[in-house]
Amino acid sequence: MQITVTKNPNPGTMPPVDKLGFGAHFTDHMFVMDWQIDKGWYDARIVPFGPISLSPASNVFHYASEIFEGLKAYRTEDGTVQLFRPWDNIRRLNQSAERMGMPLVDEAFLLEAIKKLVALDQHWVPSAPGTSLYIRPNMFGTDPKLGVHGLHEAKLIVILSPVGSYYAEGMNPVKIMLETEDVRAVRGGTGFTKCGGNYAASLRAGNRAAEMGYSQVLWLDGVERKYIEEVGAMNVMFKIAGKVVTPALTGSILPGITRRSCIELMQSWGMPVEERLLSIDELLGAIENGTLEEAWGTGTAAVISPIGLLNYKGSEYVVNGGEIGPMAQKLYDELTGIQWGRNADPFGWTCKLPKE
Ligand code: PLP
Ligand code: COI
Repeated sequence: MQITVTKNPNPGTMPPVDKLGFGAHFTDHMFVMDWQIDKGWYDARIVPFGPISLSPASNVFHYASEIFEGLKAYRTEDGTVQLFRPWDNIRRLNQSAERMGMPLVDEAFLLEAIKKLVALDQHWVPSAPGTSLYIRPNMFGTDPKLGVHGLHEAKLIVILSPVGSYYAEGMNPVKIMLETEDVRAVRGGTGFTKCGGNYAASLRAGNRAAEMGYSQVLWLDGVERKYIEEVGAMNVMFKIAGKVVTPALTGSILPGITRRSCIELMQSWGMPVEERLLSIDELLGAIENGTLEEAWGTGTAAVISPIGLLNYKGSEYVVNGGEIGPMAQKLYDELTGIQWGRNADPFGWTCKLPKE
């Protein structure tokens, strides 16, 4: 399929680096393609970024057929732009699509489309330390019919946003609230997908945590409310008695690409990593007996985000004196070193775009 390009006649300007924040500014162009059940994907195009027109009856507005991805383009010191494990995000998009009964995409084609879009808008990839271009593909059902049925029409859009730090705290430790009332996902549900509904259902708990001064909630499993799952926008890792423990991928948490990258890095350093069930009792026990050394979250937007304080049922537990721990710092340095091209990439995770 050919990708047509319509240039934006009114290009915008990059905001100052201290005003970037996360996901508030967009580049000049977006990629769009449409799908119909009897036609497959068609009309792949790069067009000026802007509003789209949809029937108010569109499936996505009523029944939430929506999935998305999040990956980044980084500017390296020699000025080139590179993507980080983009093929893994595209594969995960298809895994989400499969679970949600949505159309699959040709992975090689979508990667080409993303590269073409980022190449066109590559002057929007910021260069200040810690900044990047966040790439947000999303797909949604557009059937203009109110019956609940399988999709006949869908749209896929990729938009680009120059970003700074996800949390106002930057790399400083965040305060996290363990959620004991709402649950995010159950096995057999959609927890392992990046579907919008997972995030919609998490807003109430997030709001309650924010009102009390916490950045995000840490979810417990949806059945026993006993096992640690993940944070709102990141996976979690704990260093307990010299080993790193992270919740196993049991189907209710997102298989994070940053999580996988951290596991692979730590294994290459000889650090033992256990992917297993971790109960809240084991975690509190480790805090009480002093064996919890560090805790941090991992995610594309959040990168490595140390956790300095946990609240469980109203009691606060300080982790590592509220400081950034050495393992979180080492992971941050090595991962961002590879992403921004300062360090060698022995794993083959990066994908360079041709120079402008
Ligand atoms: N868990 C949730 C719920 C997320 O939204 C994210 C962000 O994408 C992650 C984990 C981390 O995933 P990744 O490292 O692939 O960005
Ligand atoms: C990401 O890290 O890419 C995310 O999607 C997190 C969040 C903004 C939903």
